[in-house]
This record gives sequence, C-alpha cells and structure tokens, in this order.
Amino acid sequence: MHIISLERINECSSRSLELQSRKCKAFPTGSYSSCSGDKADRCIDKPMKWPSGKPVKFSFHEETEAILNAQINAELKAFYYYLSMAAYFGRADVALPGCESFFVQMHHEEHEHALRFLNYVKMRGGCVNLCSMEPPTEQDWKCPLNAFKTALELEIEISDKLVAVNKVAEKHGDLNASDFIVTGFMEDQMKSVNEMGRFVAVLSGIGDLSLARFMFDKDMLDNYVLPKFNVLRTKSNRSDKR
Ligand SMILES: [Fe+2]
Repeated sequence: MHIISLERINECSSRSLELQSRKCKAFPTGSYSSCSGDKADRCIDKPMKWPSGKPVKFSFHEETEAILNAQINAELKAFYYYLSMAAYFGRADVALPGCESFFVQMHHEEHEHALRFLNYVKMRGGCVNLCSMEPPTEQDWKCPLNAFKTALELEIEISDKLVAVNKVAEKHGDLNASDFIVTGFMEDQMKSVNEMGRFVAVLSGIGDLSLARFMFDKDMLDNYVLPKFNVLRTKSNRSDKR
C-alpha cells in the first residue's frame, strides 16, 4: 500500500502557515502586537481570542487537521483535471458530448467533495489551508481511453488518500473523523474506481473504431449523466429561451 509520509501530508499546511507568519512579520513592530486602546478598534490583523483562551477544538488532532486539509487539495486536483477533460471533449474538433457531460458531472462531484471536507474541518474548529493548484500534466487528452485511464488513476489516488486520512483519524482515536470518511466517502469512492475501470475496459476494446466510439459516447449520455449535466440538453434549453 502507498504510504504518505507525515512530512508530505503537512507540506500544504506548513507552507500556508509559513506564508501567514511572513505576512504577520511584514507589519511594523507595534502595529500587530500592541493593539490597545483606540488603535485596537482599527487593527484589522488582530488575532482573535476566545473567551476561554483555548482554541475551539474538540479532540481534533493537528495531524488529522493537516491530512484533511491535504484531502481538500486532492479533491480539487481531480476537480481541475475533470474540468480539463470536459473542455477537451467539448472541443469542436473532438465533439463527444457524452464524455463532455460525464466529466462536467465529475467536475461538480469533486467540487462537492472538496466543500464537504472544508466544511468538516470548520465544523471541528480547525483551520482551512488552501494550496495553489498545479495544472493537469496534459490538456490535449487525445482520445477517450487516455482520459479515462487518467481518471481511473486519479480515483485510485484519492481512494489511497482517504484510507490514509482514516488511518490518522484512528491513530488519534478520532471516531467522528473516521466515521466521516468511512460512511461518507468510501463506498462511493469504490464505486467510482469500479466505474472508471469498466470504462477503461470497454474503451480498450474499441481501439480507433469511430462508430464504436460514437456508441460509447451516446451510452455515456443516455446512462451515466444526470439530465442537468447533459450538455446537449443544456444547449437546446438555452436556444429555446431565445
Ligand atoms: Fe472525490
């Protein structure tokens, strides 16, 4: 099994904290630390203090917080890749609306996952640390098989990361975080891996046959895409309103 080092997991959070600290240091001496009297009301960078003086966290270990933040980034990476794939299949010289609609749908799904992780970190009293996003390694996907193989790799990567998040949560006896991962994500994630694997199997048998590719694309549109993500339906609705 792929093991993610704690160092790698915390990289995202550390970078963000470092930037935050640099930003604080950029303020002249006194403007940050000596906010008092009238000036305190104007001090926009004043650290917030809770009445208890303690952070509002209920047994939320910083390692769990860091790996959940890393998971937000992993979901956003998939979100970005699927957007690139949807854009490719929507190109006039590619024109595969089934694949386009499917990846638009996947793009929205990953966005929703990222938001669920983000809201969970907030709910536990943690801090959200977003990282910069790397663009996809390629953006001319060339053929459905190449795109779906990459999508399968992404889903496997996300599955491994979910397992790693759960391991950290269990290590710190965080039953709630563990339940959030296991009951909220794992089954759907396994289904996504299975679905992508099946598409790769079908596409591997199609080769360069254009009629078979057309039928695969139509099958995607008919059976794997919700109506609201069907780009053809969206386009015809738009023209109806004109
Ligand atoms: Fe996801």
